[in-house]
Parts: sequence; structure tokens; C-alpha cells
Amino acid sequence: MKVFITKDIPEAGILLLQKKGIDFTINPTENVLSREEFIKICQEHDALLNVGTNNLDEDFFKQCSNLKGIALFSVGFDSVHIPSANSRKIPVGNTPDVLSRATSDVAFLLMQSVARKSFYNHKRIMNGEWGSFDALANLGQELYGKTLGIFGLGRIGFEMAQKCKAAFGMNIIYHNRSHNQDAEKELDAKFVDFETLLSESDVLSIHSNYAEENNKLFNKSTFAKMKPNAIFINTARGKFHNEDDLFYALTNDIIWGAGLDVTNPEPMKQDNPLLALSNCCILPHIGSATYEARNGMAVCAAQNITALFEDKKMPFCVNE
Ligand code: DGY
Repeated sequence: MKVFITKDIPEAGILLLQKKGIDFTINPTENVLSREEFIKICQEHDALLNVGTNNLDEDFFKQCSNLKGIALFSVGFDSVHIPSANSRKIPVGNTPDVLSRATSDVAFLLMQSVARKSFYNHKRIMNGEWGSFDALANLGQELYGKTLGIFGLGRIGFEMAQKCKAAFGMNIIYHNRSHNQDAEKELDAKFVDFETLLSESDVLSIHSNYAEENNKLFNKSTFAKMKPNAIFINTARGKFHNEDDLFYALTNDIIWGAGLDVTNPEPMKQDNPLLALSNCCILPHIGSATYEARNGMAVCAAQNITALFEDKKMPFCVNE
């Protein structure tokens, strides 16, 4: 069995594959492969370790039904057409838990940065705009005792809620497919319907897996139901929000600010008008970008691949 790895991964994962004697090839080109090149290479391999944004859609599975398994270098699996994998009995594995802290750290960082306009003020200094003290300028908001609303309270959402409770004594409300007993017990989190989440959150942070039914769920009409002081945080997927509507909400005092680690498309274009706003902080999808998280992801992905070779169930399988 031969494995194709689409981009280099941290050594911890490579060492594990080597230790198990697995035959793998890492994409030797610096460039992102074209769709045709990618499919052709997958047809010549038995398993795929997918790093990055290749779209594993219905057509991909039709053309690459030879694959015996796919290990993703991500926790999100929205890039994979799971019904196609299921119908061909191709297991798909992800990298849960190991990036929950790092990703929730970025959500927390964005929340604070927006609340205190930190990125914007850094930009002002760089532009030579640090003037004399002004008691009325650059005012942010404090988060003590405010309400954090979490859309999708799983592992990452839990970590975010925990930090916000510990740092600012925030009240936690959440909307999820099901109740999260741990969060209710440990953090006194309250399950609410979606409308309540919108209307009561001072900070609304998305931590859900992305599914098509949630495409642009955060749009003109949902932003309009949020508080004027609300901060919108998205570290999950850019497809959750409508970018034009977010721009409108941020420039018409509908909501107070936004922090994004994800956009649609990625990379975001340099002339995107959101980048010019004083109340919007944007990061280039770095939620899991710590040594600790990326090493953990490399090990999870290698464990998923190893299981295939040992004819075992993937330890982090999303579709079986
Ligand atoms: C994930 O793991 O899903 C992160 O968003 C990186 O893609």
C-alpha cells in the first residue's frame, strides 16, 4: 500500500509512518497541484493524507474509488463528500481534540482584539497616527459579566466558554444539536434556541462543524437580530457568514465588531473592504497553528493511516 501526502507535515507524524514501515510520498512540488494532477496521483496510491483545501467532492470519489482510506490533516471534514465515501466504504479520519485549545485561544484573542481595537490601533501607529492623549478616542468595551453565545458547543466551544468564564465571569449560553451536559454542569451553560442566541449574546462565537444547511446562516437578517454592542467571532468556516452582509452590519452600527480567522474564499483578497474597517480583525486561518496542535494533528493523521495498514478501524474516523 502506498500513501500520498499532499504537503509536508510535522516530523512527529512522519516518524510514526516511518516507524511502521509505511510507504509514503510527500508532494515534491512547491506549488499546489492542479485538480487533474491531484486526481491522477490519488489514482496511483492506496491512501491519501490530505493537508489543505483539496475539495474531495462526488466527482473526486468517482474518479478515485481505488482509495482505501483518507486521513485529513484537520478536524473539519466539510471538504469531503461523506455520502460518496460511505457508498464506497472509504473511511475518512480527522484530527479532533489536539487543536481545541489552540483554536479556542484564537477565538479568545480575536474577541479581546475586537473589544479593545488592538489590531486597528497597531495599524494606526504604523501609519504614524499616534496623536496626543484623547479621553474620547479609541474606546473599547469590557467583557466582565457579559454573555457569551456559542453556536456549536463541542470540544472547541467548551474550551472557549471555559476561558471566557474564568477570565471575565461571562455567562454562557449556547445553541447546539443536543445538550452538552458537561458545559451545563461545569460552566452553568444554558441551552437556548437560535433566536435567543442572536438576541442575547454580547459575543457570539461559532464553533460548529460546517454543513451546507448552515451556508451564510449569519446574514443581513440574523445580524439585524443581534445587539448593537455584539461582537461576532468566526474561527470555524468562512461559509457560515455572508461577507457583504457582515460588512453592512459593521458599517451601519448593526453590530459592534467582528473577528474572523476564516473567510470565504481563502485566501482573502488584499483589497477586501473588511480589511479597512476599524472594528474588524482578520487572521489567515491560524486557529490550529501552534507547534503543539500541529504536532498532535500530525500524529492523529499518521495514526489514522497506520490503522488502515494494520487493517484496523481508524482511531479518529468520522464516517463509520
Ligand atoms: C481544521 O482543523 O478544521 C482547521 O480549520 C484547519 O483546517
